[in-house]
Amino acid sequence: MSKKILLSGVKPTGRPHVGNYFGAMKQFVELQSQYESYIFIADLHALTTVQNRQELEENTTGVLLDYMAIGLDPKSVTIYKQSDVPQVAELAWIFNCLTTVPYLERAHAYKDAVANKKEPNVGLFDYPMLMAADILIQDADVVPVGQDQKQHVEIARDTAEKFDRIFQKCFKLPEPLILDTVATVPGTDGRKMSKSYNNTIPLFASDEEIEKAVMGIVTDSGADVPENVYAIHALLRDRVSLDALYAENKGQYKKLKELLIEDLKAMITPMRERRQALEEDKSAVLEVLKAGGLVAHERAEKKMEEVRKAVGLKLY
Ligand code: ADP
Ligand code: TRP
Repeated sequence: MSKKILLSGVKPTGRPHVGNYFGAMKQFVELQSQYESYIFIADLHALTTVQNRQELEENTTGVLLDYMAIGLDPKSVTIYKQSDVPQVAELAWIFNCLTTVPYLERAHAYKDAVANKKEPNVGLFDYPMLMAADILIQDADVVPVGQDQKQHVEIARDTAEKFDRIFQKCFKLPEPLILDTVATVPGTDGRKMSKSYNNTIPLFASDEEIEKAVMGIVTDSGADVPENVYAIHALLRDRVSLDALYAENKGQYKKLKELLIEDLKAMITPMRERRQALEEDKSAVLEVLKAGGLVAHERAEKKMEEVRKAVGLKLY
């Protein structure tokens, strides 16, 4: 039996953090041989916020290095960048014509932007249609993401059903893959870890950055267990050993933070060193991206031939 298809992506918008890793990226690595995997860099999506050539290029190469450093193996996974599959923009346009404005107005990312009195660009508004195209064009069965992306995968499902109803059956219905324990990884202030909240622990942090981030974790004095420290520590240890550690060091916030620093360093150091080694030969790493792009492009083109035919765009 052939393997099911897994697909996911990360936007090249800056350094990844521990929330991105546990919420999504770690699953890419753990599932890579169980599924036929497609993992990409969402550079077209990043354009809604990153509008500087050098920054986009550096961030994109950065995510590629991140993927390889966490252990994605190009022999098992097709790694590519979204813009090497321009058919996704074509498919997103077709989806735009089937989707209503009120439907997209209900999307969280757009609603948040409006609530924060930002004037969203059309790209942000249309973001879920491009994401639906990313997923559906590769026939994905499962999409590992954090909780904040669940609605987007549901929008992809709705869009597939709508297309299939109006034209003819072309698409598989994808499922989000969200692990309960890490659906929303908390940051150093207890809110969702997010670049925009300034509460992150960078995934490839230096020792000093780890120390600074952990020492900055907000603790509410009085409780035996510093909740925010424990919540992050729970990512790194099983419940039994964690509870034993916190019982042993009850009320000793500084000691507990030091123990968390130690555990974070043990996890991050080997990945950071692998990333540094990969960075020595960027051109070899870029070859991986180029080769993956060709594979993803070919699959997408095949799917689009089917779609164009179904829609009435293909006359010869
Ligand atoms: P960010 O949300 O930090 O801008 P991305 O949008 O590139 O980062 O997200 C990459 C992946 O990481 C997505 O699947 C997203 O759901 C996941 N993710 C981001 N923040 C968290 C978090 N705090 N907890 C769990 N998953 C997260
Ligand atoms: N929107 C996702 C994020 O912010 C990135 C993304 C774009 C994606 N297209 C996708 C994730 C398709 C999974 C599948 O993290």
